[in-house]
Amino acid sequence: MSQSPAGPPPASEIEDVPLLRALGNRRSIRYFDESRTVEDWKLETMLQAARFASCQGNINCTEAIVVTRDDDVWDELEECVSGFNVQIINQASHLVIWLTNLNAWYGRAVDGISTVSLAGATTKYHGWNYEFSMTQTIPRLMSFPTERTENLLRFETGQAVANAIAAGVALDVGNILIAFGRKPGGVEKAFGLPPHYRFTWGHAIGYPLENPNAGGQRPRLKYEKLFHKGTFGTPLPSDPATVEMLREKGLIQEQAPLEGRFEEIIGIAERHGRDPGMLYFPAREIRRLMDDGDWDLGPRLRAHAEHVIATEDLPDYPDEMRETFQKLMAEHGIDATKFLPAEG
Ligand SMILES: Cc1cc2nc3c(=O)[nH]c(=O)nc-3n(C[C@H](O)[C@H](O)[C@H](O)COP(=O)(O)O)c2cc1C
Repeated sequence: MSQSPAGPPPASEIEDVPLLRALGNRRSIRYFDESRTVEDWKLETMLQAARFASCQGNINCTEAIVVTRDDDVWDELEECVSGFNVQIINQASHLVIWLTNLNAWYGRAVDGISTVSLAGATTKYHGWNYEFSMTQTIPRLMSFPTERTENLLRFETGQAVANAIAAGVALDVGNILIAFGRKPGGVEKAFGLPPHYRFTWGHAIGYPLENPNAGGQRPRLKYEKLFHKGTFGTPLPSDPATVEMLREKGLIQEQAPLEGRFEEIIGIAERHGRDPGMLYFPAREIRRLMDDGDWDLGPRLRAHAEHVIATEDLPDYPDEMRETFQKLMAEHGIDATKFLPAEG
């Protein structure tokens, strides 16, 4: 069968990237090559991956609008995107606007469960029965207030987006999720969305202008600080042998910042006529972070922190914000002493 020029290459020519490696390769990409367009078949692959993400009762609540700079709606979208994302979307190949359809919950529950039954998924073995489903289960689910439904369904949209991103990474497509914080409600208005649709997240895709490794894997909290064993607060220990295996498989990669990262992004800024400076925090804030045992901070990041403290003209902590941060943390029951620099 002949391929259309814009169609996919033969499947045999597409590299198979193991899932663990694709997950490990993922970075939030913030510099895209504006001269390159993501091929339709790659975009479709990502959306197909989203379509096959699991969803409660098979209700298919996640939809997306794919836009480019050529679309009329672009200027309006640009006004909604948070300031630090404007450059990103304008260099990206496409913007995927992920939507959550709340009426899928109320309108598709019966058909969704019916489809999985016909597909051989829901059986009497697990206690499913038609009368109970129709008189109890489904009406109970359909009586949820929209706020509860919204929570449940947005989680599903997140799952779909994560699938799309993983598929994109496996095809060398760069991804970043994009906040649209500047104009609440602006995206819904730009597209004239029906009231039961929620705009859940923006997702810029394109070919990375930066190294696709984006200068290394970004740091996270320690495994034991995130995962609990049996009871809340009992750390689930990480196994060094598993970590070693995951390094070999590519899920865990060299932590940022890799050699040459800063030269690379300074170079990109200079070529685009933009300020090459970095966002830096005060020295005592950086030191406080380095002493915080919750974070899994590797030697490169620590060495860079030392270098920044020694060489950069760092800002002072804006003491007028101390009270605000203390108040905001107190509102959530957080002891601010760990998170704010000592006074003076
Ligand atoms: C829901 C979500 C929204 C995000 N929004 C933004 C954003 O608006 N702008 C941005 O630069 N990064 C955004 N990010 C990227 C995170 O800041 C990023 O995950 C973090 O820097 C860790 O880097 P990594 O994704 O490369 O591991 C977002 C990430 C998520 C999951």
